Amino acid sequence: MRRKDGKSKRRALRTKPVFAYGFRESPETVDYRHPCLNGSTTPGHSTIVSLFAGCGGLDLSFLGGFKYLGKTYPVLPFDVIEAVDNLPDAAECYRLNLGDHCREADLTSLPISELPSADVLIGGFPCQDFSSSGPKTGFAGRRGQLYKVLVEYMREYQPKIVVGENVSYLARLGNGKYLQAILQDFEGEGYHFDVWELAGPDYGLPQSRRRIFLIGVRNDLPGFPVMPRATHKNRHLSIAAALTDLEMISDETVTNQSQYFVASRASCGGGQGDHTNEAHKVAYCIRANSRGRIQFHYALDRRLTVRECARLQSFPDQFVFPFTTQRNLTLIGNAVPPILGYRVAKSVENFMRSFKDAAVSSNDTSHGTFRTGVQMTRSHVLQPELF
Ligand SMILES: C[S@@+](CC[C@H](N)C(=O)[O-])C[C@H]1O[C@@H](n2cnc3c(N)ncnc32)[C@H](O)[C@@H]1O
Repeated sequence: MRRKDGKSKRRALRTKPVFAYGFRESPETVDYRHPCLNGSTTPGHSTIVSLFAGCGGLDLSFLGGFKYLGKTYPVLPFDVIEAVDNLPDAAECYRLNLGDHCREADLTSLPISELPSADVLIGGFPCQDFSSSGPKTGFAGRRGQLYKVLVEYMREYQPKIVVGENVSYLARLGNGKYLQAILQDFEGEGYHFDVWELAGPDYGLPQSRRRIFLIGVRNDLPGFPVMPRATHKNRHLSIAAALTDLEMISDETVTNQSQYFVASRASCGGGQGDHTNEAHKVAYCIRANSRGRIQFHYALDRRLTVRECARLQSFPDQFVFPFTTQRNLTLIGNAVPPILGYRVAKSVENFMRSFKDAAVSSNDTSHGTFRTGVQMTRSHVLQPELF
């Protein structure tokens, strides 16, 4: 299809996916999904408030209870008691898949006192103003100051642990001055922070995606979570290994597999989003603002489908995206890959268990020492950009 100016139009092949259930109600997930998805809380679980929750990638990481490429990620002892996002699509997709505890609200106007107190605060604050593919406006951008909502929450409720997430370029923008300013504001509320830069492929993600996690522990708590060890260093999972079984499927027998942009390559050559993936390598990064320019399949003469992008982001196949191609891809591209976030969540869980155990044994005078955490440095963020 051609526009008047001769450029090709990126048209979506289907406008609506077909599905009967979201992840939380799927008969396929009933045996292993998290009880919190049905609105129940579990005694002994730590509570979470999730800000800027999107469609729930980071929340699924902390809840666990999903399968991805044949591997089970067991339920973790966290309950998300409230999630907030101002994008109606994000909140609706979240509720469809992860539960009714997601509120659609603008965090710049929602009084913090309306949120519940929780043990853990998580939030992938908006990153467009810090992204290498964005305007790089930092704090001057419209969304550059939204991290302050996390600061306000910390001041009001003093959660034990805070996990912020963002693009790794934040650590390099302005020679690190923006990240340092954010950490200073966070630490000013009585916390100490470390920054973990995780490269998705080193943790089994079949996509080149690198993100930073800002991990904060309240100053009165002993120790620190341990940065997750890479499981797939030098043995990255290829895009072909992740998507082979979808090659012959072009309908909605797998939800979202019929949705993709029908488009020729950019008329002026291989611009961003117009590359063809290579079967034996990890996929190119899935971008939220693709505007129809999603990379091409490694073997088929078309761009990647919505389901293939969700797979490359490590969403389980039962996690459905109910909107049009572009709206779904925005949610997927914005998300924290659940298997990557799961490693962070597991590390936070181990740490929280250590001080819970220590608190129990402090009544018993024969055991009474806390496990010490890793040396806190911010050196992880200084690695060269590999992806
Ligand atoms: C990077 S995405 C977070 C993705 C999420 N962590 C996940 O894993 O799916 C940032 C989110 O912040 C939301 N957001 C931006 N401004 C907001 C505001 N003022 N109030 C609430 N949410 C906002 C966006 O709609 C977007 O979903």
